[in-house]
Amino acid sequence: MMKALIVRDLRKTYGKTEVLRGIDLEVEEGEVFALLGPNGAGKTTLIRILAEGLSYDTGEVLIFGMPLSKETARLMGYVPQESIAYGALTVEENLRFYADLYDAPADGVGELIGRFELPPKKKARELSGGQLKKLSLAIALLHEPKILILDEPSNGLDVPARRELWEIIESFRRGGKTVIIATHYMEEAERLADDVAVMNGGRVVAVGTVDDLKRLVGEGSIIHIEGRLRAENLPDGVDVIGENPLRVRDVRRELPGIIEALVRAESEIRLVRIEEPTLEDVFVKLTGRGLE
Ligand SMILES: Nc1ncnc2c1ncn2[C@@H]1O[C@H](COP(=O)(O)OP(=O)(O)OP(=O)(O)O)[C@@H](O)[C@H]1O
Ligand SMILES: [Mg+2]
Repeated sequence: MMKALIVRDLRKTYGKTEVLRGIDLEVEEGEVFALLGPNGAGKTTLIRILAEGLSYDTGEVLIFGMPLSKETARLMGYVPQESIAYGALTVEENLRFYADLYDAPADGVGELIGRFELPPKKKARELSGGQLKKLSLAIALLHEPKILILDEPSNGLDVPARRELWEIIESFRRGGKTVIIATHYMEEAERLADDVAVMNGGRVVAVGTVDDLKRLVGEGSIIHIEGRLRAENLPDGVDVIGENPLRVRDVRRELPGIIEALVRAESEIRLVRIEEPTLEDVFVKLTGRGLE
């Protein structure tokens, strides 16, 4: 399959501070790829190299196999951390301005206003945070990019606005497009991303699907079973931590055997609850610190 992005041994220093310390990444066309990391991890620096032409020291960056250029810039739509809309211009004027700038078809303006339910005559500075973010997204989509790059798009948005944003991102992906999203919200990465690169201190410390990452750090699910429990002959590999709860690697495979062993020993089971490890648990294990 075609790689939308390949990054090899990318390094960037500001003065004496090395903020990207050899980043390697591969993003497949058509996937949502999350850069997950705490403040200062280097997410924005990496994104700005891709989307803004920020300089770097060494390494290689390829967009659909091509080195960064004006041509690859046109393949990317970028929603920066801060809004790029002009406060004094209306929604429609902002979109027309950027359509001109990108040489994008002007009929996209009306279509995007309709699709995102934006108020065309309202000035950008009078929009709510969620509306302003949607305007930034509309601006990024005007020239019909193949890769959408978003830098912490849901910061400051309330839950309904965040869900609306996720819907938009998912519909973009359903169109076969690629999404690269920087975030420090676990929930966002878990909900949207096909693959996650965990960044910390200018490095990618782990990469894979959310499930891969959970397996990688060996976090099993925890099974809480309440009742008057007796068990003999628990399945192989199941550790009993005290009597309860049980921590197991593969719940779907192990749970029937555990229940059977409990029932056979005439336990009285009142409640069974399964607690999946979160990406947060994984992150803490990989980096020794929390995300927020
Ligand atoms: N223009 C700059 N000059 C000097 N240092 C910078 C500059 N921009 C970023 N840095 C430093 O580079 C490091 C990485 O910053 P970056 O903004 O890429 O992190 P981030 O992962 O996006 O963090 P956040 O979650 O806070 O947005 C930080 O230590 C930051 O202070
Ligand atoms: Mg940032």
